[in-house]
Amino acid sequence: MLEKSQRIEMEITDVAFGGKGVGRHEDRVVFVPFVDTGERVLAEITHIKKNFAEARLLEILKPSARRADPRCKYFRACAGCQYQHLDYPRQLEIKAKQLKDTLRRIGGLDIEVEPVTPSPLPYAYRNKLSITWISGRLGLFAEDNCTLVGVEQCEIAQPEVNRKLAELRKRKITPPRSGKNRQSFIIRTEELEKQLPPHAFAQVNDSMSPIMRQTVMDLLKPADVLIDAYCGAGFFALELAGKVKKVIGIEVHRESIDRGRKEAEKRALGNVEWIAGTVEEVLARTPVPPRCTLLLDPPREGCLPPVIDWILKHRPGQVIYVSCNPSTLARDLKMLSTAFQVERVVPLDMFPQTKHLEVVCSLIMKNR
Ligand SMILES: C[S@@+](CC[C@H](N)C(=O)[O-])C[C@H]1O[C@@H](n2cnc3c(N)ncnc32)[C@H](O)[C@@H]1O
Repeated sequence: MLEKSQRIEMEITDVAFGGKGVGRHEDRVVFVPFVDTGERVLAEITHIKKNFAEARLLEILKPSARRADPRCKYFRACAGCQYQHLDYPRQLEIKAKQLKDTLRRIGGLDIEVEPVTPSPLPYAYRNKLSITWISGRLGLFAEDNCTLVGVEQCEIAQPEVNRKLAELRKRKITPPRSGKNRQSFIIRTEELEKQLPPHAFAQVNDSMSPIMRQTVMDLLKPADVLIDAYCGAGFFALELAGKVKKVIGIEVHRESIDRGRKEAEKRALGNVEWIAGTVEEVLARTPVPPRCTLLLDPPREGCLPPVIDWILKHRPGQVIYVSCNPSTLARDLKMLSTAFQVERVVPLDMFPQTKHLEVVCSLIMKNR
């Protein structure tokens, strides 16, 4: 029987999605962070659940050859990064395997996953940082989501973001009028502030943005109409407008739609229609145009059932699904694969050093 605080030695057999290593003790799965497959570790049990346990890493007894020196002095304390202890190519191998496993386990799909496209910048890539002030301290959260780590510099953020963080640290922050002892700040690069309204969704890795757009462009089959569902301020719509006769952008955040429309006017793009509303309600009143491709880039929760139902009913010739969450992607692909062939799965490392992964998939309607 395992007990809390018990120290155990175990072999790591895998690194699961979320970044935790998988080991076993007396037939029970034990998750431990900051390890690699093949390592032997000493760990201390912290939580015991019905089917598994969680542990804290105490010592690496047999290290992996793929270990690297973390650049950040807050690594392991701050919850922002999970993989700084591994060399970058190893991080990409782990993410590709996790994606393949997730598609099989949740989606029932045994399909080819292409190698993960690396980020040109493995560090210093983030154009945005959310930082919290609590009772006079500024920082990022630890894994427990309530302990504040007083981060002075974030190694995955761009230098400009770190300069702004240093300026914020020098400022005297007064508690908000609500009387709460807590306040959130979003630090963004000047370029991002120029491009997007304050609460708009932003792709955070500028060095990967052109690669992501090009990936979607390469996957796009000849089409007359592109429906860009969850279009934000037109990250894809503005670039793809030249490839089709018409783009229909759908987005719930009105300021993003307004910004997209303005930018399209500036670029003299007359073939983009911008619709503010939920994808669920807008699609429900949109008949599928002939020669139509549907581009989906939903939030982490994936697509709501009415969206999947609409796709299965209206069957656009191609669906390009951009996802930042392999689990909900696998769930949605399982339903869509009854009518569509998953043609390509292209993972992109938008978030080096972290557990996150972006995936672009092309689906082609079966029996066209
Ligand atoms: C992952 S972001 C993608 C945005 C855009 N494609 C980009 O790359 O910048 C998801 C977007 O979907 C929007 N959104 C969330 N739920 C929505 C819904 N039900 N209907 C329409 N838009 C939604 C969010 O506001 C956000 O802009």
